[in-house]
Amino acid sequence: MAHQINGIALPNEEGFFGQYGGQFIPPELKQAMDDINVAYQEIRQTEEFQNELKDLFANYVGRPSPLFHAKRLSDQLGGAQIYLKREDLNHTGAHKINHCLGEALLAKYMGKTKVIAETGAGQHGVALATACALVGSPCEIHMGQVDIEKEHPNVVKMKILGAKLISVTRGTATLKDAVDSAFEEYLKDPKNYIYAIGSVVGPHPFPMMVRDFQSIIGDEIKVQTNERFGANPDYVVACVGGGSNAMGAFTAFLNDPEVKLVGVEPAGHGLNTDKHSATLTLGKPSQLHGMACYVLEDEQGEPLPVHSIASGLDYPGVGPQHSLLKDLGRVEYTTATDQECLDAFMTLSRVEGIVPALESSHAVAWAIREAGKLPKETKIVVNLSGRGDKDSDYVAEKLGL
Ligand SMILES: Cc1ncc(COP(=O)(O)O)c(C=O)c1O
Repeated sequence: MAHQINGIALPNEEGFFGQYGGQFIPPELKQAMDDINVAYQEIRQTEEFQNELKDLFANYVGRPSPLFHAKRLSDQLGGAQIYLKREDLNHTGAHKINHCLGEALLAKYMGKTKVIAETGAGQHGVALATACALVGSPCEIHMGQVDIEKEHPNVVKMKILGAKLISVTRGTATLKDAVDSAFEEYLKDPKNYIYAIGSVVGPHPFPMMVRDFQSIIGDEIKVQTNERFGANPDYVVACVGGGSNAMGAFTAFLNDPEVKLVGVEPAGHGLNTDKHSATLTLGKPSQLHGMACYVLEDEQGEPLPVHSIASGLDYPGVGPQHSLLKDLGRVEYTTATDQECLDAFMTLSRVEGIVPALESSHAVAWAIREAGKLPKETKIVVNLSGRGDKDSDYVAEKLGL
């Protein structure tokens, strides 16, 4: 596993990835984060923790997730071969369960009395509510009212799983506001509560911890591609919101320069409008939610309202490790619009019988756009981060189906 690149630690002792990451938080929160870090470093090494997580990955999540050759799609596009890393087949339908199990187990080992989190599309909320039900921890999920209305099936699921759902109506009532609200709740009793962040974002140690739990994705891709074609893939592609599924898919390949890594951000209505969420593409280095990272912000330094058709991607910040990888040029960050995402959603559904999450459809859109330009022997692995059941009603209504 690559925990350094070009001699830069990922992260260093203070939680910095180059100039990004760190802990830009009040002193009482810093103590709580440092406690989590110490506990994490200790607990994750124990055989008991490792065995429990390994068993849950295999027998609860259903890992390893398959690597599927999307042959009909590849044939239609007439170029590179597209392979789908089927995180959509995980229990709860997305990659989020990988780090939620890690975080919930950590909460159990640390004796925490409440697990708190934010959610955008509801995937992290459902995955965390699931993991908390499994380990027997009370769970509280903060979600923007706009997302609550859009992601009804996930909202219902969280309630069935026993989570307390907090509707957030402030600001744009989407992901950033949900993060603010959840952090406030956490600050009421950081000794007994634990914040289970939904991506590779927030103060140290979360970007590192969530990445570590997610890196199983890339580890499996490496084994699967080497078994199947005796080599690494030429491309690994993933959508980027906060960046957890992408970091999970990329980590194993960071020091394999022949593997091109592509992160796809949401261009929404277009990069020349104010309705997008392309943080790495159009943002600048700043701070948000306790970390230094690229941020989309106004001239006063306030985070901008952002938009994506995919609720899980509309976040004005991004993980600190992605921020560094952009500056180093190790990952190419590009974008797909809402329209390209919708087209990809329908194409994959009709050509391969796989209904992708709107978030993942951004990565599929990149493959659809680029595959035809590449030679037939090129192998693209698209991380299909989640399934589209949660989005089906919304898409059907939008397209008048
Ligand atoms: C299916 C799916 N993919 C991707 C994302 C984006 O998150 P991240 O960039 O952390 O992988 C989400 C977020 O909710 C999601 O539900």
